[in-house]
Amino acid sequence: MLLVVCPRWFDSRLVPRGCVLFDSTDASLRYNRDRFILLESVRTDCIVTQQAATKILLGISGGIAAYKTPDLIRRLRERNAEVEVVMTRAAESFVTPLSLQAVCGRSVRSALLDPQAEAGMDHIELARWADHLLVAPASAHLLARLALGLADDLLTTLALATTAPVWLAPAMNHQMWLHPATQANVQLLSARGCVLLGPGSGSQACGEIGPGRMLEPLDIAERLLAPRPQCMAGRHVLITAGPTQEAIDPVRYIGNRSSGKMGYALAAAFTELGARVTLVSGPTALACPLGVERVSIESAGQLYEAVMQRVQTCSLFVATAAVADYRPQDVVATKIKKEASSLTLTLVRNPDILAEVAALPEAPFTVGFAAETDAVEQHAMEKLQAKGLDMIAANLVGAEHGGFGADDNALIVLWHAGRQVFPMMPKVRLGKELAKLIADRYAASLAN
Ligand code: PMT
Repeated sequence: MLLVVCPRWFDSRLVPRGCVLFDSTDASLRYNRDRFILLESVRTDCIVTQQAATKILLGISGGIAAYKTPDLIRRLRERNAEVEVVMTRAAESFVTPLSLQAVCGRSVRSALLDPQAEAGMDHIELARWADHLLVAPASAHLLARLALGLADDLLTTLALATTAPVWLAPAMNHQMWLHPATQANVQLLSARGCVLLGPGSGSQACGEIGPGRMLEPLDIAERLLAPRPQCMAGRHVLITAGPTQEAIDPVRYIGNRSSGKMGYALAAAFTELGARVTLVSGPTALACPLGVERVSIESAGQLYEAVMQRVQTCSLFVATAAVADYRPQDVVATKIKKEASSLTLTLVRNPDILAEVAALPEAPFTVGFAAETDAVEQHAMEKLQAKGLDMIAANLVGAEHGGFGADDNALIVLWHAGRQVFPMMPKVRLGKELAKLIADRYAASLAN
């Protein structure tokens, strides 16, 4: 006898003839988020499982591309997604709530404080319900509101309230897309972990040609619902990022030019690969990527404590922080007055956190960075060997492009039996490429 285990919503017509449908609400089955696990007490010859529906909150903002959203909903539902729709007021000028309701099979929302909607599923519950928030089309105005963190309607409020990944499918006139204000907003949103889908390029509704077309519904649905490699699922990754500040007196410190962008990009990338990520961060202006646990520190001493408290539970340690090698021996209790014509500070060495982690008896897979102004590869190789690291990512700093503070960077990554060069590219993309390479090398180390 074939026993088919499936959730209640499973289309029973898909069950092969001669099989017995086994409702997964049965007590002997344990529900595990998106799959069903059979316990020993149930005897079976065959199990058919189907992934639970992906819950997509579709936000529609005001733009001509909104006319494509009924098709987008259809494409998402064909791929086993449940879709709830939220529209901005402007979107209602381009597509009617009634058409959307007809294709998604649920009522469509636009009001933030709608007593009827709130009685069913309030907006916070809706934000929690979503596996993904997809904004399509995302107009220039909507991108600006998201970048500012405004919560002046239901869609922007949900975007703040949800912890689900946020996907943005921009659509606008090409000059609006290329405007520095829009580009700055897009960069900020990407750095916070939002994923951009497009825009595409081509002829636009305004008759002009250029970038700014919303991707086709099929393309959006396929990219959003494509099976993602969760190769780091179940792993804890500890990452250091940003600068440290070594106090001289209550108002002055020794610091450096690190912005944290490289480390934050890596943190977001490892989260996408399924890892639990803890980011120990020096002072930066960056928002914490979605799903990442951030521990804020100021000095190298605090960074050391934060890392050592957490390193036992991590599988992978990546040190992107620019840690001060020295700190003032004594911190003056009151502000130093400019009385003498010169001032001498005595500096003492800080612990080398990376080297100490690599030397632990049960060290995690340890990846360092090397910031070099010359002979990049040679110095990086020396650090790899001297600190006993598994890998090192070296970058040229102090040059016109890349390195400290820049949005772009290039890396030479070395390990004991190989090397890979990543040319200059946005740190957000570089973070993804590097995370994949580290995950591969880590997997290879487990296999050996
Ligand atoms: O933050 P961004 O503006 O995006 O810039 C990115 C970056 C240039 C800071 C980054 O790519 C980078 O190179 N980080 C390492 C900076 C650094 O301190 O390099 P280093 O060569 O001095 O140190 C080597 C390694 O030892 C680093 O992994 C560092 O984190 C670690 N270290 C250094 C000193 C110390 N006391 N403890 C450490 O753990």
